[in-house]
Amino acid sequence: HCLAALAARRTALCGADDALSSSLHMLCTPLRSRQPFNQETFMSLRPGQTPAISPLNDGESTNPSANTHIQDIIDARLSRRGVLKGGIAASTTALFSSLGLSACGGSGSDKDDALALSFDAVAKNKNDVVTVPAGYEVSILHALGDPLSLTDAAWANNGSESAESYNRRVGDGHDGMHYFGLSDAGAYSASRADRGLLCVNHEYVVGPNGLHPNGRTAGSARVASEVEKEIYAHGVSISEIKRNSSGNAMTLVRGSAFNRRVTSATPMAFSGPARGNALLQTKYSPDGTTTRGTNNNCGNGYTPWGTYLTCEENFTNVIGRATGDNAKRSAKEITGLNRYGMTDGRKSPYLWDTAGSDDLFVRWSASVTGASAAEGYRNTFNTFGWIVEIDPFTANSTPVKYTALGRFAHEGCWPCKAVAGKPVVFYMGDDSRNEYIYKFVSKALWDAADVGKGHTAGAKYMSEGTLYVAKFNSDGSGTWVELTHGKNGLTASNTTYPFADQADVLVHARLAGDVIGATKMDRPEWGAVNPMNGEVYMTLTNNSNRVSPTATPTGSQLKPDTANPRYYEDIKGGTTSQKGNPNGHIIRWREAGGDPAATTFAWDIYLFGAEATAAANVNLSGLTAVNDFSSPDGLWFDQNGMLWIQTDDGAYTDVTNCMMLAAVPGKVGDGSAATAAGGTPTIKGANATEATVRRFLVGPKQCEVTGIAMTPDRKTMFVNIQHPGEDGSLTSPTSAWPASQTDATSTKRPRSATVVITRSNGGEIAV
Ligand code: FEO
Ligand code: CA
Ligand code: CA
Ligand code: CA
Repeated sequence: HCLAALAARRTALCGADDALSSSLHMLCTPLRSRQPFNQETFMSLRPGQTPAISPLNDGESTNPSANTHIQDIIDARLSRRGVLKGGIAASTTALFSSLGLSACGGSGSDKDDALALSFDAVAKNKNDVVTVPAGYEVSILHALGDPLSLTDAAWANNGSESAESYNRRVGDGHDGMHYFGLSDAGAYSASRADRGLLCVNHEYVVGPNGLHPNGRTAGSARVASEVEKEIYAHGVSISEIKRNSSGNAMTLVRGSAFNRRVTSATPMAFSGPARGNALLQTKYSPDGTTTRGTNNNCGNGYTPWGTYLTCEENFTNVIGRATGDNAKRSAKEITGLNRYGMTDGRKSPYLWDTAGSDDLFVRWSASVTGASAAEGYRNTFNTFGWIVEIDPFTANSTPVKYTALGRFAHEGCWPCKAVAGKPVVFYMGDDSRNEYIYKFVSKALWDAADVGKGHTAGAKYMSEGTLYVAKFNSDGSGTWVELTHGKNGLTASNTTYPFADQADVLVHARLAGDVIGATKMDRPEWGAVNPMNGEVYMTLTNNSNRVSPTATPTGSQLKPDTANPRYYEDIKGGTTSQKGNPNGHIIRWREAGGDPAATTFAWDIYLFGAEATAAANVNLSGLTAVNDFSSPDGLWFDQNGMLWIQTDDGAYTDVTNCMMLAAVPGKVGDGSAATAAGGTPTIKGANATEATVRRFLVGPKQCEVTGIAMTPDRKTMFVNIQHPGEDGSLTSPTSAWPASQTDATSTKRPRSATVVITRSNGGEIAV
């Protein structure tokens, strides 16, 4: 009856021809995938080895705060108001009205109503190729080790490339990326489709460590030449690409003056409130204004003025700390280190700090050495976890870490559409279990004359502004709470953590989020802003740490809540593989009044990941064989407002490799109330149909599909394939991709790579 009530309400509000979708769908928080085989554990192990340490997994919780759980709010508010039996949709509609929103779409034209998917869905499969729909073609742009210059030899498939050459070779672990059109004059062109610069993140050194001759050499101390190669294989590649003389496929322009690597050793500058603060002082930069390197670059972003944003996610994994270091630290310092997982005696899975006395290696230990911070690297941990801007059009430009956007496990940084005279707004997620969603609102107001001004524009819009963290209320409303020193309890007298100044708030943004009671989410991965109506989507990849609503959580466990509602078991081979929310979901919100700078919003859950055969209260979005998926991670809106969803999964991989789907999204409020598996009420969007969500691509064996870009004419698409064959070893490989894309008998080493997808008839992708 609540659907009927909502339909009636919507008809009244929106008119009868705003068709109410048959049901709602929202993807719930995807759990962190690849539970049995994560990159960090793999990095530290040889095949068959048992972990001697317990590295911090992607997504492992370090959040001990006692923030009110959303379930508590549900219990307090919904039961008090007596609306548990189906009143959520109606109250959501009422809420939208109170926020000045319309449940039927609100501001702006919704061009997505005219969008339609035109391809035949790809079937789930476990083949060792990238599978695309009939009528589409796949080629490889570049893969690990490919030379960007004309002076280095081609990848030899035996790990013989020198460490030094990785300053000019494509790095490992392809992840987020962005296409920038390149004009004849060598400047940014938003419309140029046949020539561009492709910026690609290289997140980490992928098992089975194919960049070394025989994989990683075992031992408690690393081999210096291997570590040096790994340091240079991280970071970002920038390469010029151009369209082929026939067709829409594009290829690398080897030797282009724009080709460039940014690595974990590249000099960088700090900007914003923490620049020059004591917390950033190191032997490399005694005044705390510069640093070296970016790493664990996961998702990405870009700016309206034409620069690339790369995001430092699992930086905890490259830094170690000596046993007994706590004795040399203040209680305040220990609180800060522990909140980010840098506990006393923690060994880095990479063990880069064990490779020798050269400063290139020493700086990866955060242990206290020297008489002051400026004489050692005790603060090295604070120099990572930032949003980094790279100007791809200026070859020798120094990348900038913008401290105003906070320090946490940044998955990505996604801009709203820039509007003249309004602030520039970026959304960000902290990918760890129980962590938060943030947004940054610039102080400076957008001026289109800044397009093409590189770091000068970056300094204008990203050095000064307001950082907010999200609270999702159980009634479908939400609040952005300001993380500004002196406000909301963020003061020197705070008992959780005494914040000295704004730099301290930003370096310890997680602790600031704890203080204001931000909502703990199920591992926020990518976000995306719908260009047609400004609604913001964010994947919540999964959470195996949810417990039954009737259980008593211990440690970092969480009960389900309205925004992260499901508790169920994933069955593999007849036995329980994971409990909690193994398949994840996608949440979305609409800012009050359609204003990105608003401090309130309305939310629902767009889509729940699930196996098509799962129970209805698990498969809440009604997925079928043409669109069922698990653990959403990458997410991107193309120029037409089509939503692309990529997976990084460990729950459905007994049936299918990871994949990418195309979707025609609806709008916040187009669904209804529902009760999720485990009994928790939730607010879901309209159900998926085979017309609105469809599988476009399946990746090769044991890969993650992550990173997407498209030319402005929508005729050339780029997709990254990360860690194919990660369950294998160099001696017992499980994948030969990308060589296997065209040669089924290949025995070449598996490599992360960028694929180029075009339509055989030269048309636009997917429509
Ligand atoms: Fe590197 Fe959260 O994925
Ligand atoms: Ca990711
Ligand atoms: Ca992931
Ligand atoms: Ca399963």
